[in-house]
Amino acid sequence: MGYNPGMIEPHAPVAVYPGSFDPFHEGHVAIVDRATRIFPNVVVGILQNAGKDALFSPAERAEMVREIYQNNPAVEVRAFSGLLVNFLQEIDATIIIRGMRAVSDFEYEFQMALMNRRLYPEVETVFLTPKEEYLYLSSRLVREVVALGGDVDGLVPDPVRDRLEERYRKVTHPPTR
Ligand code: PNS
Repeated sequence: MGYNPGMIEPHAPVAVYPGSFDPFHEGHVAIVDRATRIFPNVVVGILQNAGKDALFSPAERAEMVREIYQNNPAVEVRAFSGLLVNFLQEIDATIIIRGMRAVSDFEYEFQMALMNRRLYPEVETVFLTPKEEYLYLSSRLVREVVALGGDVDGLVPDPVRDRLEERYRKVTHPPTR
């Protein structure tokens, strides 16, 4: 049987790349790049949690990621709260994208994928591998390095670097009254 374009599902699936993204770094950028090669519509879903160790508010995180993708119509940025699967259903998405860096990520990711599938059987989690140069990169490390005065140039996109600079300038040089 030859290629029959009529058999292709006309409704392209919407993929959600969920995370805390505090902050969004180059490893995340590389995963979105890969995801947009597979799925025409990728929604970056930013978890609306402002944990006590959070550096940026959920609104600030969303603003930065919107700035990064402002000229890319394939990428939409949304904030969500509550269960990820409820958010997926709300926006009619069936794919979850996650980056898998190393074996150490596996157990947590596997548990989440299975729980999400139990809660929403139509969902499929797709794991993408990161760029080798960002294998060690995590938001936690970025937060720690900048807090201690280290340089994260090249590890975060410009809008994030600008916000980090602004944040730490404020902390290290408080305005004099
Ligand atoms: O980047 P992170 O912090 O590892 O992302 C974790 C995230 C946001 C994907 C996960 O915590 C999540 O989906 N939270 C929403 C609440 C939820 O659905 N929990 C059950 C997941 S099995």
